[in-house]
Amino acid sequence: MRILALESSCDETALTLLKTSKGSLSLEKDQVYSQVNIHKKYGGVIPEIAARQHVQTIIPLLEESLGRRKLKNIDYLAVTSGPGLITSLLLGITTVKTLAYSNNLPLIPINHIEGHIYSNWLSHKELVKNSKKYFPSLILIISGGHTELILMKGHGKYQLLGQTVDDAVGEAFDKVAKMMNLGYPGGPIVSQLAEKGNDEYNFPRPMLKENNYDFSFSGLKTAVLYSLEKKKRINKRDKENICHSFQEAAKEVLIKKTLKALNSYKVNSIMIAGGVAANKQIREGLIEGCHKRSLPLFAPKLKYTGDNAAMIATAAYYNIKNKKARILKGKQIFNLIPNSNWQLIKNKL
Ligand code: KG4
Ligand code: ZN
Repeated sequence: MRILALESSCDETALTLLKTSKGSLSLEKDQVYSQVNIHKKYGGVIPEIAARQHVQTIIPLLEESLGRRKLKNIDYLAVTSGPGLITSLLLGITTVKTLAYSNNLPLIPINHIEGHIYSNWLSHKELVKNSKKYFPSLILIISGGHTELILMKGHGKYQLLGQTVDDAVGEAFDKVAKMMNLGYPGGPIVSQLAEKGNDEYNFPRPMLKENNYDFSFSGLKTAVLYSLEKKKRINKRDKENICHSFQEAAKEVLIKKTLKALNSYKVNSIMIAGGVAANKQIREGLIEGCHKRSLPLFAPKLKYTGDNAAMIATAAYYNIKNKKARILKGKQIFNLIPNSNWQLIKNKL
């Protein structure tokens, strides 16, 4: 089976051609065009600029990926249908709808968060070979737009345990970096500086003691801002200590809340996914927690932590395989609109 998938929910335009054969996955094409250099100068993603870039990039990417083959031998099209920036989503969705309808191909909308979850299947053959062994799995989604704790009971069976009530953790990393003019995206820069610092500031650990699985990062971000405002000038050492203290606070909340869920839910593995899953400290903290409990931990390969279309194609494949896919054909394709909430996932419960 061949699936062509497009991802354009934020500032990456990505296209993948996934081939599956006897249960194994191979990527015949896998391209990610990142707009990060364009948004860098503004310190964050500007939705209108992101949309304009997608307009310019999508067709050349399609042309490059498919070449003269066009849509020959493709069985399904898949596209990220949300959540994400509405103007970015619309471009990917409209392109793929047009391709699907005019070529009479079935189209599968994929939830972006579900895509991130499947970046683990892209990264670990063990999971592809024997998914069942690792279900139920506790999934921590940590990205620029999301922070969620999900119980995955099987393919396409999800229970949302908790989520951020305000900022996503990646967003907090980016804003902390912006406060100190460190550059964008902030996550990798903050974590690099954090390596040289210490926990001098001992920032609050928001919602750690609350009896739920929700998260909050806006108070932590404000605590960083107040500490910066108290200082007239900040030197390199201050920056390193602030980054370290912020990362420690975010890491502790994420890890402790995830591990706390193990008291109430019996699982056979833990998985992390999303851009912040690239963070070495968070990965290592979770590895240690899982090791103590003899639980396998899956984290995506670094290149699949950020937004990509390979994860969308993989999610589409498992949806089809497990009869969970929403397959749109012919005029049904007209009805596909961006979906910015959990509906797609919730419908499957
Ligand atoms: O998954 P992603 O590409 O986009 C969303 O779906 O939101 O995640 C991007 C986020 C950014 O906020 C970026 O700063 C963060 O991931 N990030 C990191 C690291 N690498 C990327 N955060 C912390 N540590 C990192 N090493
Ligand atoms: Zn993402």
